[in-house]
Amino acid sequence: MTQAAAPQPWSDRFETALHPAIVVFNASIGFDLALIEYDLTGSQAHAQMLAEQGIISREEGEAIVAGLEQIRSEYRAGQFQPGLDAEDVHFAVERRLTELLGDVGKKLHTARSRNDQVGTDTRLYLRDRVDRIRQQLREYQRVLLAQAEQHVETLIPGYTHLQRAQPLSLAHHLHAYLEMAERDWERLGDLRKRLNTSPLGAGALAGTTFPINRQRTAELLGFERVYANSLDAVSDRDSLVEFLAAASLIMVHLSRLAEEVILWASEEFRFIRLSDRCATGSSIMPQKKNPDVPELVRGKTGRVFGHLQAMLVVLKGLPLAYNKDLQEDKEGLFDAVQTVESCLEAMTILFAEGLSFQPDRLATAVEADFSNATDVADYLAARGVPFREAYNLVGRVVRACLAQGKLLKDLSLGEWQALHPQFEADIYEAIAPRQVVAARNSQGGTGFEQVRSALATVRQRLESTP
Ligand code: ARG
Repeated sequence: MTQAAAPQPWSDRFETALHPAIVVFNASIGFDLALIEYDLTGSQAHAQMLAEQGIISREEGEAIVAGLEQIRSEYRAGQFQPGLDAEDVHFAVERRLTELLGDVGKKLHTARSRNDQVGTDTRLYLRDRVDRIRQQLREYQRVLLAQAEQHVETLIPGYTHLQRAQPLSLAHHLHAYLEMAERDWERLGDLRKRLNTSPLGAGALAGTTFPINRQRTAELLGFERVYANSLDAVSDRDSLVEFLAAASLIMVHLSRLAEEVILWASEEFRFIRLSDRCATGSSIMPQKKNPDVPELVRGKTGRVFGHLQAMLVVLKGLPLAYNKDLQEDKEGLFDAVQTVESCLEAMTILFAEGLSFQPDRLATAVEADFSNATDVADYLAARGVPFREAYNLVGRVVRACLAQGKLLKDLSLGEWQALHPQFEADIYEAIAPRQVVAARNSQGGTGFEQVRSALATVRQRLESTP
């Protein structure tokens, strides 16, 4: 040996120690310690199975399971702080187990590789977080639903091209975001099925010579099935990609709502007021109240998209089976999980106590525009005038009103009838914003009846699923 015995965890094949900079470069312990609880649980299942199969003795199995539990306690108490020389969480745990148990600790890694081990840990971790994020989506939906239920009769201008289009029930607007969140919730449930597959027992890449029982470890760890191919088991990261894609969509939805909140809070809109709980001030302009929460949600969206892209690029050129590139799967995943969780929490708080809609301001907003113009055309069409002809006529009326600084409701009955003999006194009722909204009672439309029934369906869903 040319240098002092290497503290590195791998075999005696190596004569010299790693370059210190390469130790740092190679190590994942700085971030994969986050997997330790799953690593311990996975190893306990593995040890139990080894003992049940007679690959190690029952006493050895029990000692290993207890030793791993002790490491868990040490970790939770802040006493387990492996250094970079441990390389990764898997080596760190095995080393500590061997300190605790001597030679018995060295038996844990029988019939296993870090390749199937890290895949197991990552899946157990992600399964937990998927469940948590689904619960958070439910919380967020509850808060949005409570707002929607209060605002069925509150009107808000509806936009296309960010131009006033047709007035809406505010609840209808919020319900759109409830549906997006529902798809997000479903999507996570769907990917969870594929995620919940055990790679444990695939070994390094080819399986093992020992008579292991993969069904048993899968069952102990709550996996629904095992990978059918050992190469696929150690190199598949599809469920990470699926998760990052689902996380990206959650962020798209949150970010769109965030953008609306930012607009609505502006002086130009004034549809909402931000409470002091979720807004911040400026260091120089004393009058300012800034919508930092939705801005941060909008801003954090990009990094989740980035993690999806990074994961896809890591995978695209990899030959089978495990390659160290795959160690790059973790930091982006952890960051995406943490970003989605924190953004969902922040948006939930924002809608629970961070903002209030301004009904007076909203009521004025829907009165002061031509967003009832379609209803005038519909009025004539319902009385037999071909829609396109009615549409053109109303276009001319709007132009004339604009020239005179009038709204449609300001026209006298005589003026209406001069435009078309079909107009009668009920035109005023037909173009009043409340009626305009109420009348759009087609399925999935903004009519109050439709909105009430849509919200009832959402409430049922939220009450019948965890
Ligand atoms: N730290 C590694 C990772 O995150 C664990 C697997 C290492 N496997 C190996 N063959 N070097 O991917």
